[in-house]
Amino acid sequence: MNTNDPAGTFARLLQRLQAELQLLPDKPDESPEATLRCLWALAANRPLAISQLGGFTPAELDEAGMSRLQALIEQRLGGTPLAHLTGRQDFMGQILLASPAALVPRRETEQLGFSAVRRLQAMGTSQPLVIDVCTGAGNIALGIACHLPRARVMGADLSPDAVGLAKRNAAFLGREDVEFRCGDLLEPFEQSGLQGTVDMITCNPPYISSARVDGMAPEISLHEPRLAFDGGPFGVKIIRKLIATAPQLLKPGGWLLMEIGLGQGAGVAKSLASNPEYDEVHTHNDAAGQIRVIEARRTPDAQANKP
Ligand SMILES: C[S@@+](CC[C@H](N)C(=O)[O-])C[C@H]1O[C@@H](n2cnc3c(N)ncnc32)[C@H](O)[C@@H]1O
Repeated sequence: MNTNDPAGTFARLLQRLQAELQLLPDKPDESPEATLRCLWALAANRPLAISQLGGFTPAELDEAGMSRLQALIEQRLGGTPLAHLTGRQDFMGQILLASPAALVPRRETEQLGFSAVRRLQAMGTSQPLVIDVCTGAGNIALGIACHLPRARVMGADLSPDAVGLAKRNAAFLGREDVEFRCGDLLEPFEQSGLQGTVDMITCNPPYISSARVDGMAPEISLHEPRLAFDGGPFGVKIIRKLIATAPQLLKPGGWLLMEIGLGQGAGVAKSLASNPEYDEVHTHNDAAGQIRVIEARRTPDAQANKP
């Protein structure tokens, strides 16, 4: 291949990606061109997320760079997620490290992150305490911490690998004040003296039913952790447990915010509305009109309701 003609080489490689690259709807930023530009930058030793491509022009690669590019293209066409190759993914305006250790943060999950920021702003607490469970790469916890620098934010995940990546992301962003713990849902915080003091709990839980997990696209099922998706027989195992346990940590008037799966919104909202531990429930739809985020407020006089 002629490496002295970057524009011609780019055009030829782009034609191949346009013909062969399979794109998934949950990664709407990816296109054949953005993919090729990211891989070209990486072959030139510049790991970039798609959102960082603005000033990048593919320039001539030396022979070693061109073989790196060819190998990266084969890996991507073989189904390796782009973010695993670049090691980068942006979320809520921040560039994060990405790896097979945790789910690659999805664009759709920003709806949960920004709903949390808006709700915390509306609460008006000067230094709110926020816990993000099922934190994965730490993207929601670090997104909230970035948009509300005075918030005290903690995160936890059952997977030690995910917690390791979340800690690396905190260091990458210079936000080591965001603390990550390992354990089942809220258990890592149960002995911490935080009962009844937390302003908000956020969670993007695994919510795919176990039977559907095996049928997911190979780019997802072969490369991302099953623990990130499997929500039990009906997909709502973790959601139900969180609804039951969150009131112990939330302060009266504090909020639980969750992302939920397609088709789960009405049922989850109904069970929250009939639970006396919560007194207000709000839902947010995605662009297709599906409920994807649920907010529930812990009843302000919850103690008074207890026998
Ligand atoms: C859908 S991923 C969300 C990751 C990240 N918060 C995001 O939005 O991209 C779900 C995460 O929940 C974690 N997880 C699964 N079961 C859990 C449990 N019982 N307790 C804590 N974390 C759990 C998985 O390891 C995975 O990181």
